[in-house]
Amino acid sequence: MPKMHIYQDNQAVAAAFAAYLEEQIRGAKYFHMALSGGSTPKALFAHLAAAYADRIDWQKLHLYWGDERCVPPDDEQSNYRMTHEQLLQHVDIPTENIHRVRGEEEPAVEVQRYGHLIESRLPIVNGRPSFDLVILGMGADGHTASIFPHEMELLTAADHCAVATHPDSGQRRISLTGEVIRAARQIHFLVTGTSKSPVVKEIFHQTGAYESYPAYHIQKGEWWMDKGASGEL
Ligand code: 6PG
Repeated sequence: MPKMHIYQDNQAVAAAFAAYLEEQIRGAKYFHMALSGGSTPKALFAHLAAAYADRIDWQKLHLYWGDERCVPPDDEQSNYRMTHEQLLQHVDIPTENIHRVRGEEEPAVEVQRYGHLIESRLPIVNGRPSFDLVILGMGADGHTASIFPHEMELLTAADHCAVATHPDSGQRRISLTGEVIRAARQIHFLVTGTSKSPVVKEIFHQTGAYESYPAYHIQKGEWWMDKGASGEL
């Protein structure tokens, strides 16, 4: 079973993970981290802004995104916008340390640009750019980053980034692909809410449709969950 950390609720997960993150950054010279969208990271960012604005050396942190919606950065759907509102505008991080996915650009062009950007900025491990840490969420359908169950080929794609399509809305997204995520030194899933518990159970017990969930295939991740998401384990 993957390593797991279980807390009462979303807020407690955010607080525990923020403390963990602070330790990891403290011990590093530079720290390259890929962020996720979603509700649990949102709580994490708010907590980091409230409790760690002057306890983390933001100069050494470089931020990237595991996925982004193909919308402009001021759109309500933008993961960058959410991160900016919850975290970036509240802390002293240099603009040049923020490497956002440009959701406003032509997706096919942007995946190439972003792939080259991470390749030029990160150490290469087994042919892949390697983040120090990747934060992931998981949807109730088992998707992670923007790798959805109907696009499993993104797990093994040759390119570092790909254009993905949300199965319900048809919204286009840009996502890191599976091999780049797996090349990270550390991978952490932040997963909260009872809607996730059936999929969490299948993944952890390797039952049911577990192999059809993209999150199952990112195997070295640690899971930070609340009672809701872990309730069926
Ligand atoms: C996104 C995400 C996505 C998210 C999951 C879980 O941009 O939508 O990166 O993979 O993490 O959908 O989202 P919640 O935490 O809101 O359930």
